Amino acid sequence: MAIPYNKRTHRNGELRAENAGQTVRLVGWVASYRDHGGMVFIDLRDREGITQVKFNPETDPQAHALARTLRNEDCIAVEGQVALRGTNINPKLPTGEIEVEGRAVDLLSKSDPTPFEIDDFTKANEDLRLQYRFLDLRRPAIQKVLRLRHDIAKAVRDYFDAQGFLEIETPVLTKSTPEGARDYLVPSRVQPGSFFALPQSPQLFKQLFMIGGCDRYAQIVRCFRDEDLRADRQPEFTQIDVEMAFVQMEDVMEAVEGCVAGMFRVAKGIDVPRPFPRISYSESMDRFGIDRPDMRFGLELRDVTDVVRDCGFQVFSNAVQSGGVVKCLVVKTSEGADRLTRKITDGLTEELKGIGAGGMPVTKVVSGTNGLEFSTGVAKFVQPVCEPLCRQAGAGPGDFLFFGAGKYGDVCKHLHHARTRLIEILELKPSTEWNLLWVVDFPMFEWDDTEKRYFSTHHPFTAPRDEDVDRLSTEPDKVRAKAYDLVLNGTEMAGGSIRIHRRDVQQTVFKLLGISEEEAKIKFQFLMEALRFGAPPHGGIAFGLDRWVMLLAGKESLRDVIAYPKTQRAVCPLTEAPGPVSDDQLRELGIDLRPEVRARLEEKAASAQQTVHRAHDEEQ
Ligand code: AMO
Repeated sequence: MAIPYNKRTHRNGELRAENAGQTVRLVGWVASYRDHGGMVFIDLRDREGITQVKFNPETDPQAHALARTLRNEDCIAVEGQVALRGTNINPKLPTGEIEVEGRAVDLLSKSDPTPFEIDDFTKANEDLRLQYRFLDLRRPAIQKVLRLRHDIAKAVRDYFDAQGFLEIETPVLTKSTPEGARDYLVPSRVQPGSFFALPQSPQLFKQLFMIGGCDRYAQIVRCFRDEDLRADRQPEFTQIDVEMAFVQMEDVMEAVEGCVAGMFRVAKGIDVPRPFPRISYSESMDRFGIDRPDMRFGLELRDVTDVVRDCGFQVFSNAVQSGGVVKCLVVKTSEGADRLTRKITDGLTEELKGIGAGGMPVTKVVSGTNGLEFSTGVAKFVQPVCEPLCRQAGAGPGDFLFFGAGKYGDVCKHLHHARTRLIEILELKPSTEWNLLWVVDFPMFEWDDTEKRYFSTHHPFTAPRDEDVDRLSTEPDKVRAKAYDLVLNGTEMAGGSIRIHRRDVQQTVFKLLGISEEEAKIKFQFLMEALRFGAPPHGGIAFGLDRWVMLLAGKESLRDVIAYPKTQRAVCPLTEAPGPVSDDQLRELGIDLRPEVRARLEEKAASAQQTVHRAHDEEQ
């Protein structure tokens, strides 16, 4: 009689010594099999773990005969009795005290040999694993991450529900919202020549929720951004999107801290101290060269412009004369300065040249006969200001100084890169495991020298600080925003702001950003209309859920925490999306491919066809 596989008694991670003697029914996949002098052992795997099943030819000849034919990844159902393993306990398995003596086994589905080993030590490359993601998902490490993701998402929903937030869905086929990336576009068949944009975020819809009286909204929502990919960016990712009415910055930040504390409790079992520390944007840039600092390490930047302005070193004086700055980064002996070789400093200088720096002056402090001296690198140029420079930089004998000279923004960028690389090269230990902090007081606008215009530091709906509103038309550079970013260990985990709820202020900001009245009308008419009808003060934030899971799971790439991720080339190896569509589909949409694009597609199709033919010939 067939084993009723729909009536399993346990999952494979559940059985313990106290279950000994019970008759159980298990299902799952063969993770491994061993034939030990007649006795067959199967490791049976499911989502929850592994249980060893033993088949004895003496007591259960029929089950044993079938078990001998089983191979990895066969899908089976088993009935048997739980027995203690005695001296053969496997301490590595939670179920390692017991095994199941198999009385009956059914083969539910045979597996072909798999393209790679399904275990956590697999050496298969990522492309192959993603192509066969349904097999990769069987690996315990991935199951663990998916479970963690579920637990975090549930904690988030429970938290916001308890705080009186509503989860309301926003459209996916919509209009572009500017978040700084390119849109994914969807052509309309019914309105040929018109396109939907997939949301880069539900920003405007959530603001309209507040105007619509839905005060307190939190949604776990998919967002789409066509931007250059990095390990912490996916074209399709998930936000925890939040908006609240009648609030100030403090209220949003407090609500967020509660949510983050819940995530840490679920994922790590720890209570993070609250309130989270805060740092202003300008202090963060001054000290770390970046607006998402990892403050678990030293190597802070020091401004030495005043000290070196007259030292005679041309690189520095040129920078100062053209209105720039000179900053330095000190690596102390306690941070491993003695391990810095010429090879390392030269390598770093080359890297910096690669990101646009002219070079990176370096020198080292030593004790000389008359006090502190510089040796190596640019020593002779900065020797005249040795003492004040060391004082300003807080440097002593044995310490290394790395300099950046030029425009403030460039120097910050270059020294931040140097800092990050030095932390890696010197393998510095972080002072704590988790460094949560708020970055506040962002500037409203950033000037783009190439395009000769302002861009919003956050997005165009962010409100200026009350005391800065009057500066909007006179000194836009000096206007600070009511914006806040949450940073964890140097990664931006959430960003938000209080929004503009006054129509005239929104109009001024659009104008400053070079968005003409006509363009604003086309793109944001609905928002401008809504701002006429009693818009409440409101604000919110969005967290990158994938990034939270990645950091809390100790992973280095978002691909490790998304069930079906895209690769660096923004494709899905499993489904081979995106793919070409038929001429009929294009015609219906009123779309014509450009001749060069069509030629490239045809070339690709021909070469794929050839590969198929070759494989066929080889098979014959
Ligand atoms: P922002 O653009 O800062 O703000 O996005 C919020 C958070 O989303 C995550 N994130 C990403 N995660 C993975 N892949 C990506 N490509 C990606 N892009 C962003 C980050 C980021 O902190 N509408 C505003 C929020 C608001 O003002 O309320 C917004 O989307 O963790």
